[in-house]
Formats: sequence, structure tokens, C-alpha cells
Amino acid sequence: MAAQREHDLIIIGAGPGGYVAAIRAAQLGMNVACVERESALGGTCLRVGCIPSKALLESSEIFAAAKLAERRVPDFGELSRVVCRGGAGENSGFEGHGIRLTDVTLDLAAMLGRKNEIVERLTKGVDGLFRKHKIVRYLGHGRIAGSGAVVVETGKETVVLRARWILIATGSTPANLPGVRLDGDRIVTSTEALSYSDVPDHLVIIGAGYIGLELGSVWRRLGAKVTVVEFLDRILSGMDVEIAAEAKRMFERQGLDFLLGRRVTGARVEGDHCIVECEGAEPIRCNRVLVAVGRVPMTANLGLETVGITPDEQGRISVDERFATNATGVYAVGDVIRGPMLAHKASEEGIACVEMLAGGYGHVHYEAIPSVVYTYPEIASVGRTEEELREAEIDYRKGIFPFLANGRARVLGQTEGRIKVLADKKTDRLLGVHILGPRAGDLIAEAATGMAFGASSEDIARTCHAHPTLAEAFREAALAVQGRALHI
Ligand code: NAI
Repeated sequence: MAAQREHDLIIIGAGPGGYVAAIRAAQLGMNVACVERESALGGTCLRVGCIPSKALLESSEIFAAAKLAERRVPDFGELSRVVCRGGAGENSGFEGHGIRLTDVTLDLAAMLGRKNEIVERLTKGVDGLFRKHKIVRYLGHGRIAGSGAVVVETGKETVVLRARWILIATGSTPANLPGVRLDGDRIVTSTEALSYSDVPDHLVIIGAGYIGLELGSVWRRLGAKVTVVEFLDRILSGMDVEIAAEAKRMFERQGLDFLLGRRVTGARVEGDHCIVECEGAEPIRCNRVLVAVGRVPMTANLGLETVGITPDEQGRISVDERFATNATGVYAVGDVIRGPMLAHKASEEGIACVEMLAGGYGHVHYEAIPSVVYTYPEIASVGRTEEELREAEIDYRKGIFPFLANGRARVLGQTEGRIKVLADKKTDRLLGVHILGPRAGDLIAEAATGMAFGASSEDIARTCHAHPTLAEAFREAALAVQGRALHI
């Protein structure tokens, strides 16, 4: 006889959608259970996604800067000052700061160890938050078993949980391509590419999206030859075309090779090499392959059929504006539903969903969800691109300000890139902000806040920004919308 437990809400999945929803629901007084099959909480984001990749991006940037200062980098190809923060520019690298380095070496094991320690601390932090909020955690695979019931196989026992509400927040898993044989070693997804035990000689990355560019940057900076093969004729599909094109030029100067307009049809291990097959082109020989062609919702073996839920052809679960599925009492948020697969979008949805369940008001401002690519420089955007506005036949004005004319960027030695502000021609409301440049991921928060509050470019332009800061470049771009930027 399986053990039975009663809760108000059962959440399946403890990623940024599920664990944040669990905390908020507990704050609202619910008795919450969270079922997670991995021993570490935090989901893809904390364990094998956002956090470990950012740790490696940080470490690899410092290494590349140090290696440049040493000026003994024959294998780095054509270097430029955009290679990383503090690169080899006139006054930007370690040398420019008057810091001389010799015999710079890479201790990859230590670098990976630092990343693992950060992940461990953060996932344990979520454990602590669960204890603080008295969220009952079940370790095991959760499966819906009819209305109001979830069965958890813990390995030791089978537990049947009952609740008025069930929230599915199971996230997504890397997509693969037909013909590509993943082997967990040479041909892998992002999970394994965060932990290569040595620097690949030649890494081929399939897909010039977020993951391809971030992990491509990491291994390039650590010395690998990196070739990114992309099916489309551009990188970062969905991002502003101009910004993406400028970013591509910078990545090329950093030594990333791009093969655009090329569809990969297969990849296999052959002896001590890998062969990547492309449609209408010669196969590429390399020694490691990373498949980064998107992610697919994780809905298999969830017992959805027991409550009459059928995922769509992309594997997503349909929900209404309250995140309710077609099954009474069953809700879903994050990567398993429509919209961008972003950690912060999942968290917003989790919060809004449980707030609505608790009888209050919940809302996700989808127009103001920022996205960030943590390359050097960072690329961040919120709202609509010029292409989207043109397609929707919305008249807009554009203001651009280059970081080259920003005092703080000069001091940092990080003057590449620009900020683009798009505002409605009639109302002046912000419609989109696109940033390529230093700390773009932090700067975009002000733009997202402005958009969430319905700000106009005039509102931003009339807000006093501290001097000298990178944020002044945003104010200047807002001023540029009306043709009155001060420093260009
Ligand atoms: P993505 O959707 O960003 O990019 C995948 C790319 O692969 C596309 O450009 C696509 O055209 C290309 N592709 C597909 N099939 C191909 C083929 N046969 N041959 C060559 N190219 C092909 O997906 P990615 O980079 O795997 O990221 C997955 C998800 O994770 C994204 O939705 C992203 O939002 C999220 N993510 C977010 C990050 C962030 O917020 N900084 C970082 C990493 C991932």
C-alpha cells in the first residue's frame, strides 16, 4: 500500500519556474509539495544552464585577457581588443592598466571546480529556502495519476500525493537532429560541453543561438578552434538584425568561424575524429561536436493522458491566461508552455500562476521580458525589434548611442557596441531597446522597467542618470530618439 500525503499544491519540477512558484505559494499560506527527480534543486538553470555557463564565461574571459597581456598567443588567430573585457586595446587590457603578466597557464580542473562550487552553493541555497518556507520536497520522478493525484517513485517507495492543484514546471531538454548520434563524450549537448576535461582542438557547434555563442566563446577563449555551423543566413535569429550583424563581426574578430546558411544533416564519431555532414557542402572533420539547436519541452512520462492533456506538435502544453490546462486543477508554466525558454520568464509565470490560485491578481508583462546573451560584449534586448515593428506596420522613431562616446565605457576600456531605442512615432512610448555592449545584461533592466511602466523615450531622457555610468548611454539613446543626444 503506497503512502498517501495531502497538500494544497503539488509542483512537478524544481527549476526557476517550479521552485520560485513553490516559495511564492508558501508565502501565500499554501501547504506546498515540490517533486524533483534530481538530487540538486534549481533545474537546468542552476545545475547545467545559466549559472555554470556564466561561471565559465567569467573565468574564460579573465584567462583570455591574461593570455593577451602575456602576448604569447600564437594559436589565438587574429586578435583584437574586443576579444574580451580588458582585451588588447590601447588602454584596455591588463597591459594598458600597467599590469604585466608572464607564464599564464590554464588550470582547467580548477576552473571547472570553481564553476561546480558556485552551482553547489546555489542549489543548496534553494534547499535552505525550501526548509525556511516549509515546502515539502519529494526526491523522485513525479507522474500525474488522475485528477488531483501525483505518484512519486522515490526509488525506495511509491508515494501518492493528493492536492487541489497541480503545477507542471518540468522545463525542457536539449533538442537533437536526426542523423546526429549523441554519445555523451565527443558529440554532446550543452550539459556535457560545460565540463570537457580538456580544451578541444577543434570544436564544431551546430546552431548559432544563445548556447552556441556562449559556449563557443568559452572554448575559443580557452584556446579551441571553434566553427559554428548555422542553418539560417544570420546568427541569433529573433534578435535585432543590425545588432546581431555587428555582434557577428566582433565574434569573428575573436576568432569564431561561422558557416552560415548550412544545414547539418548528421554527425558521427569516426576513429579519433568526428565528422559533421552538411547539406550541399563538404563534411567537416573535428574532434568535438556540440549540438545547440534549441530545446524541447519535457512532457514525456508525466501521466498527462490520465487527465486528458495532449501536448501540441512541438511538445508544448496549452494553457489559458491563468496558466490553466484543459484538465481541471492542472496548471503549467515555463519551458513546457508557449513563449521564450528563459529562466526569468518561467519564474514570472510561476509567481503569477500561484498568486491567481490564491485568489489574488497575477500578471506577466510579456512585452517587457528581457533576453540576454552573455558573450563579450553582452547582447540584451527587450520589446520588439525594428523588423517586428515594420512587419506590424507600427511607425517608430529610432535613437542610437555608441558606447565609444560614453565616459565610463572609455574608463573601462570597453567601447564597442551601442544602444538602440525604438519608440512609437505618435505616443513616444518605448517599443523596444537593444543593447550590444559592456554589461548590456544589467543595463537592460532599466529599459524593461521603463517598458513595464509604459515609459516614453522622453521619460527616460528626463530622468537624471548618475555620472559617469554606462546607464548614461541609455539616456543618450533616448535623447537621440528626438534628435537631441548631447555627446554625439
Ligand atoms: P536557439 O533556438 O537559440 O538556437 C538554435 C539555432 O540552431 C538556430 O539558430 C537554428 O537555426 C539552428 N539550427 C537548427 N537546426 C539546424 C541544423 N540542422 N543545422 C544548423 N543549424 C541548425 O537554441 P539554443 O542556443 O540551443 O538555446 C536553447 C534555449 O535555451 C533557447 O530557447 C534560449 O532561450 C535558452 N538559453 C538562454 C540563454 C540565456 O538567456 N542567456 C543561454 C542559453 C540558452
